[in-house]
Amino acid sequence: VPASPPGPLRFDGSKLVFDKKHPWEAPRRGDLRGACPGLNTLASHGYLPRNGVATPSQIITAVQEAFNMENKLARFTTYFAMILDGNLVTDLISIGGKTPLTGVDPPLPAIVGGMTNHGTFEGDASVTRADSFFGDNHSFNQTLFDQFKDFSEEYGNGFYNMTVAGELRFHRIQQSIAQNPQFNLAGLRHLTAYAEVTFPANFFVDGRKQGSEIGQLDMKTAESFFKDMRFPKGFHRAAKPFEVDGIDVVFSAHPVLPGKNNGEEVDTFTVDESLGSLLDRCKLYTEYVNTTVRSLYPNPTGVLRRNLELNLQFLFDALSDFECTQVFL
Ligand code: HEM
Ligand code: MG
Repeated sequence: VPASPPGPLRFDGSKLVFDKKHPWEAPRRGDLRGACPGLNTLASHGYLPRNGVATPSQIITAVQEAFNMENKLARFTTYFAMILDGNLVTDLISIGGKTPLTGVDPPLPAIVGGMTNHGTFEGDASVTRADSFFGDNHSFNQTLFDQFKDFSEEYGNGFYNMTVAGELRFHRIQQSIAQNPQFNLAGLRHLTAYAEVTFPANFFVDGRKQGSEIGQLDMKTAESFFKDMRFPKGFHRAAKPFEVDGIDVVFSAHPVLPGKNNGEEVDTFTVDESLGSLLDRCKLYTEYVNTTVRSLYPNPTGVLRRNLELNLQFLFDALSDFECTQVFL
């Protein structure tokens, strides 16, 4: 039976997290890494299993302990991913691609593709990773990181902050609309695309920073996380638990509605609110269960069904701030 998710931290202030017990080690042959610079870093420091395969509880514990991610955000992000990309029978998920390390797959059409599987959790217009349409949706992309630095120079005086996030989020969406015929920014991706760009300013900035330095990420530190999957020397986690603080600033800078290109041609972006969005979170949750999850698990039985129901319960519990009506299988 999958364990109930961990609660909030008991001590939730800043502390040294690049400590003696968590040395950095380069990934070894066979270790999995993916599109999330946060989780990649946690695996390379041993806050997660270094092979990149973990249980939801391990992920929640790690993001709280090492980054001070707020408990509900940690829980719903983890269960959104687990239910789409993980193995619900073995309670394991890869932070990278598909792997036998998560155990025997449940029957098709389940994918159990790991977090780099495109179109479930991973999506388009990431800021340091290319769109799946162009081939590699998970590796650090130097060209995109140069753009990240250019935007930080232009809009943030050399630092990545929420102003930069607002501009870069919009620019990456425009780039994908213009270049990727299969560009998709609907449903869950609409929420994650806006949420993710707040994370570097909230979680990658050392928790000892004071006053106006809070929320300002320098480029050396950014490169350490995004490229090297490594804490800077002496890194202290954030001084308080962060949620998606700043997402309203980022969204209101250039509000783009959920939608997609038509699959055949670029510059065909059409608004599609059928799967909900950042702006309609209950619809997002409802369609996530009724459309996305059901398409992967049309007729679950036995342990699979029990664990799917449990994971959906953990997800719903974590979404209590959304105040939605629960959807059952
Ligand atoms: C992106 C999973 C926590 C930072 C992603 C992506 C996945 C993911 C699958 C790829 C989405 C995409 O851009 O296409 C998760 C899960 C978490 C988690 C399951 C569990 C709570 C964190 C934490 C941080 C973080 C704690 C920061 C400390 C980021 C950033 C991106 C990202 C900055 C965007 C990368 C880019 O656009 O190039 N995450 N993540 N994540 N994650 Fe995480
Ligand atoms: Mg992506």
